[in-house]
Amino acid sequence: YDYDLLVVGSANADLVIGVDRRPAAGETVLGGDLATHPGGKGANQAVAAARLGARTALLARVGDDAHGTLLLDSQRAAGVDTAGVLVGGAPTGVALITVDPSGDNSIVVSPGANGRLAPADVRAAAGLVQAARVVSAQLEIPLETVVEVVRSLAPGSRFVLNPSPPQPLPDEVLAACDPLIVNEHEAKVLLDGADPGEDPADWARLLLARGPKSVVVTLGAAGALVADGHGSESVPSVAVDAVDTTGAGDAFTAALAVRLGAGAALADAAAYAARVGAAAVTRRGAQDSYPTAGEVEAL
Ligand code: RIB
Ligand code: NA
Repeated sequence: YDYDLLVVGSANADLVIGVDRRPAAGETVLGGDLATHPGGKGANQAVAAARLGARTALLARVGDDAHGTLLLDSQRAAGVDTAGVLVGGAPTGVALITVDPSGDNSIVVSPGANGRLAPADVRAAAGLVQAARVVSAQLEIPLETVVEVVRSLAPGSRFVLNPSPPQPLPDEVLAACDPLIVNEHEAKVLLDGADPGEDPADWARLLLARGPKSVVVTLGAAGALVADGHGSESVPSVAVDAVDTTGAGDAFTAALAVRLGAGAALADAAAYAARVGAAAVTRRGAQDSYPTAGEVEAL
């Protein structure tokens, strides 16, 4: 394999404003100065993996505009192969983000060019997909594009999916996931109709029954739960002072994918990924906050 990880997914300009509290409907609040950061769940994962030293490529679509340049520059600075980043068709995706004093965020995404990343783009990039040991995706691009990725995987490669923002998934996609990585909200959307209750172990068991080879449930301060055909295991979180949680989940997913590709067991990979995610919340922004492998060791 030429690449440890190929990320197929979104690239957004994150327009971030710090607020004391979020406005209710019909209300206006004043916030801090606007910060513009490179983001998007796909682009974030690619930068996170490359910072950790993985040979990484990104298949994505940005607009022919300043935000697209911001995103391409960030990828290249991190060492990501951007030959698969297509330009044009719509404005670069934008995420409008408010961050409150506890570091929690609310996000509205305008997919823009991400929504034009089509199955035909995946077919045209078949060589890239076939050259990757691990392929990861999220759901800020069309679902039919993710389906095409699953159909294009090289035999023996591994597919990792964070279904965010969540929507019901076809069996074909679920069966390919190893793992499916969800938080509580995503788990409950995928299990719609199954009355999943409040125990994450039940969510993992019910999700596994839908077909993925393995499942990771991220639980914020409570760590994560990993589950596969052999059973389930809890992974502790790493306590840090949160400054900005934006993109921490993307760093977790990328680190997990890279470690799994290197042969780590699921629980060990998740424990490492938790440290990477923890490092990311201690700094502002998404991609701008991701640690190098050396910084993770020092944590
Ligand atoms: O997961 C965080 C990301 O979600 C942000 O970077 C924003 O672009 C949205 O896609
Ligand atoms: Na951050």
